[in-house]
Amino acid sequence: MRAAWYERLGAAAEVITIGEQPTPSAGPGEVRVRLEASGVNPADVKRRSGMGRYTQMDGPLVIPNSDGAGIVDQVGAGVGDYWLGQRVWLYNGQRGGRTHGTAAEYIALDVGLVTPLADDVSFAAGACLGIPCMTAHYGVFSDGPVRGKTVLVTGGAGAVGHYAVQLAAWGGAQVYATVSGAEKAAEAEAAGAETTINYRKQNVGEAVLDLTNGVGVDRIVDVDFGGNLEATLTCLKLNGVVTAYASDGNGVPAIPVGQLMARNATLRPFVLNVLPLAARQAAQRDITRWLAEGERIHRVAESFPLDQTAAAHEAVEALNKLGTVIVEPRL
Ligand SMILES: NC(=O)c1ccc[n+]([C@@H]2O[C@H](COP(=O)([O-])OP(=O)(O)OC[C@H]3O[C@@H](n4cnc5c(N)ncnc54)[C@H](OP(=O)(O)O)[C@@H]3O)[C@@H](O)[C@H]2O)c1
Repeated sequence: MRAAWYERLGAAAEVITIGEQPTPSAGPGEVRVRLEASGVNPADVKRRSGMGRYTQMDGPLVIPNSDGAGIVDQVGAGVGDYWLGQRVWLYNGQRGGRTHGTAAEYIALDVGLVTPLADDVSFAAGACLGIPCMTAHYGVFSDGPVRGKTVLVTGGAGAVGHYAVQLAAWGGAQVYATVSGAEKAAEAEAAGAETTINYRKQNVGEAVLDLTNGVGVDRIVDVDFGGNLEATLTCLKLNGVVTAYASDGNGVPAIPVGQLMARNATLRPFVLNVLPLAARQAAQRDITRWLAEGERIHRVAESFPLDQTAAAHEAVEALNKLGTVIVEPRL
């Protein structure tokens, strides 16, 4: 099969090779997916470049990218034949010690990591769901339903944030989102944010207090825990919950424990790929239900053919993508 891979960490254009690799077969408990789309997420890029905590190769040869979508074309022992021909989306492709991700024509993986994809959702949209939508799901629902609650989504036009706004609105919350400008405000509002706050120009904490009659929000789904901590301390409601999936603005913030205690705050910094299985399964189930119940917005930032996988990684590194960057393994 054709695939993209790297055998050392480094800059995308220097380490990513395109060529032939052995086509995998579905082992016991696995399905093989004939891939139509591969999603590139910031963590895929950080793993390849050796950034932050990703200082080691996951194996001698890594086919990058966690997420994807395609059609099941082979089942392993113990997996029902009804999976054959099923359209699916998948997550954790290149995760958990697995070196073989979705920048390839085929992937074989545990059947629990794939979820049926309805005919009216494109493969490109399916490849957006893994990391961004599942992260958004836990960010919004980790502490139960949000009906009647107020939720602040920081970075409401980001790949994760945009799904978080949609899921929180679907769950019946009143949703506020922070953005950096007018285009992103329109994106967040189209996703269901009632009000957007420009975090570069406004005082987010005060703006949220104004919007909530001084009470603050029940939940904050946060793209930058350290960078936004001051606003969080201002506008998190008593007994509120902060779920944080990134902290790029300040990775080692000083934590004012007393202030958080006085607020009885729950802090949930988390990484999707190692969440408890039950939480990941709940996300798969809810996302299926959410997709079936209405029209959803899947933001594809840009698509690249397989032989431009390095350019796809660079597009994520540029930090100005709007949505998810896709690689099409069959182009
Ligand atoms: N923990 C996990 O499991 C997990 C899962 C998915 C992603 N992540 C991490 O989450 C981060 C975002 O991923 P993504 O794919 O959603 O990226 P993305 O599509 O680039 O979105 C990030 C968004 O956050 C906004 N932003 C940045 N700093 C902000 C701040 N202080 N306040 C409000 N908004 C801010 C950016 O907008 P502007 O640039 O316009 O400000 C951008 O719209 C990455 O670091 C990624 O590695 C972690």
